[in-house]
Amino acid sequence: MLTVRAPATSANLGSGFDVFGVALGTPADVVRVERAPETTISVTGAGSEYIPEDPEKNTVGAVAKALDAPARIRIDKGVRPSSGLGSSAASAAAAAVALNALYDRGRSREELVPIAAEGEALVSGEAHADNVAPSLLGGFTVVTDDGVTQVDASVPVVVCLPDISVSTRDARGVVPESATMDELVDTVGNAATLAVGMSRNDPDLVGTGMADTVVTPERTKLIDGYDRVREAALEAGATGVTVSGAGPGILAVCHRQNQRAIASAMVDAFDAAGVESRAYQTAVSQGATLYRDGS
Ligand code: HSE
Repeated sequence: MLTVRAPATSANLGSGFDVFGVALGTPADVVRVERAPETTISVTGAGSEYIPEDPEKNTVGAVAKALDAPARIRIDKGVRPSSGLGSSAASAAAAAVALNALYDRGRSREELVPIAAEGEALVSGEAHADNVAPSLLGGFTVVTDDGVTQVDASVPVVVCLPDISVSTRDARGVVPESATMDELVDTVGNAATLAVGMSRNDPDLVGTGMADTVVTPERTKLIDGYDRVREAALEAGATGVTVSGAGPGILAVCHRQNQRAIASAMVDAFDAAGVESRAYQTAVSQGATLYRDGS
């Protein structure tokens, strides 16, 4: 038996829509695999009641098929579905690493990115690699049509997850079809600032570079209480706040000493808006970890 822990991720980071992603220290999915004549899937943990166990309908089933690696697969969900934290991507990334090792397929982590993204296509209708890439590779990732660029980074963050769900399909439905030249220039500036910030582990540059006037404002309308949660996080010292992935999770970047205050400010602000939530105090961290024989 092989066990893989694959982390939650936060895609977009505001200015990097469909391009940027980071691996988070916590939460994570844990996937266990054993060779079997045909693939079976069982799911436990956060939101497992919403996840199909039919291999034809589960992201992990698509990964097993792509690697020609039938297995008994057990998924323990730490990353709630429809959270904006790359839930399906974490399972797909974990399965890709586990099945690649189980059947000695010899694929590199980079080569597993498009395979894990196949699973994502089942959920969102399109194969986005901006969650599977950081879950597989760790750190900060930049996904383009030409491939993935990765930087090890360790920037403190708080992710606040409200007890509401936003489907990726709905969140993609509100993405504007075009942007002005001014918005394009702003976005390039912000995205470049963010990328430099990641390479320097500089929360101030990263927070500043997350600003986005194109996609994020449309998506915040889908999250009850977003504006007051953002304000509360900034007042408590966050260097930048944005929607995590397709939402409803909210990502705040910060210096370590402000993390605890930001987490409670965000939860309190959601509470004031009548929404229950929980906050993860974590950091940009490493990618999927393989444990042999359950060790
Ligand atoms: N970049 C994607 C989005 C991530 O924001 O829609 C979710 O798949």
